Amino acid sequence: MLRRLYHEQPDSFAFTPENLAWAEAQITKYPEGRQASAIIPLLWRAQEQEGWLSRKAIETVADMLGLAHIRALEVATFYFMFQLQPVGAVAHIQVCGTTSCMICGAEDLIAVCREKIAPNAHELSEDGKLSWEEVECLGACANAPMAQIGKDYYEDLTAERFGEIIDAFSAGEVPTPGPQNGRYASEPASGLTSLKDHESGRMPQNASVALAAELGDTVKRIDGTEVPILTPWLSGKTSRAPAGGKTGIGADKADRSNGHTADETGIQKQQAPAKTAAKPAAKAKAAPTPVPADEDTGAKPETLSAPRGGAADNLKEIKGVGPKLEKMLNEMGFYHFDQIAGWTADEVAWVDANLTGFKGRVSRDDWVAQAKILAAGGDTEFSKRVDKGDVY
Ligand code: FES
Repeated sequence: MLRRLYHEQPDSFAFTPENLAWAEAQITKYPEGRQASAIIPLLWRAQEQEGWLSRKAIETVADMLGLAHIRALEVATFYFMFQLQPVGAVAHIQVCGTTSCMICGAEDLIAVCREKIAPNAHELSEDGKLSWEEVECLGACANAPMAQIGKDYYEDLTAERFGEIIDAFSAGEVPTPGPQNGRYASEPASGLTSLKDHESGRMPQNASVALAAELGDTVKRIDGTEVPILTPWLSGKTSRAPAGGKTGIGADKADRSNGHTADETGIQKQQAPAKTAAKPAAKAKAAPTPVPADEDTGAKPETLSAPRGGAADNLKEIKGVGPKLEKMLNEMGFYHFDQIAGWTADEVAWVDANLTGFKGRVSRDDWVAQAKILAAGGDTEFSKRVDKGDVY
């Protein structure tokens, strides 16, 4: 199957402020010089926000990580979990078509998708609310046939029940996921002979379904306000709790996507309408509002309006400075190692606070110490690798 970028692309992409803060926090998880490793979580969050990955979204993530765009495009086009075309504004339905599910009726489920959603996979329904595709085994073979809708599994499906579920999503409802035939989990069809505690009624749903039912919305687009951003690897502090943050599907549930769920019927109202429209043009967000400079933190260092002698130093020789950060530094008026080498603690604090999207990088990677060596004509281990072309 060819995986290409969609022929119609939005003009821009921007993370919501909360998702941006989350993404910045994720980047700090990785060791120095390995920030590119954050590419999959960041692409995934972009998809959770928009439903699919546009070229602008992929390039934005590449820029945040200091990667050439082609590197991020390679990742996004390689993994089938990334949707490269618009998906339904309410839900994208993934029907398992592998052996167990096929034997148990997956083809009937696909026929329902063709009839109720669109004749072909990856096409939007007429109202733009739904889309579908056939996927490989989702690991719920004991509950075949099944489909993943949003972040949950709908299992033990029949064509009739699957049709009802699709109709419910179209009507703005979110049916309870899990087995749809009365099974508790994946016990034998003849029933359990042990571990029957739930039959007392104390645990009417298995843990996955209970969590899904509590959250109430398995197809919500993630805008980052769902939970506070926790960064225990940074002194165990909360890096930033978005205003209005609440327990929800965001981190706990969304990060365990593909959760294996169970239970029968029950309908909850969809808590929030999907935020994205069906057409790419309508999905395009306004260009991000420029973040005003933080003049209250520290002291602004002296800047230059242009590099001395018309030639800037290669600031990428400083570990932690990629092409994106180098561009930002140049735009702020910093072109030379000796400028950075001379920053005081207050000045480091100012620059740290004003590197939008990369806050804290100066002190984290100790740019001043590195710049002192480079300004004096020396080399660091990292600058030697840059000179050799080992680091791009
Ligand atoms: S074959 Fe469908 S979940 Fe494994």
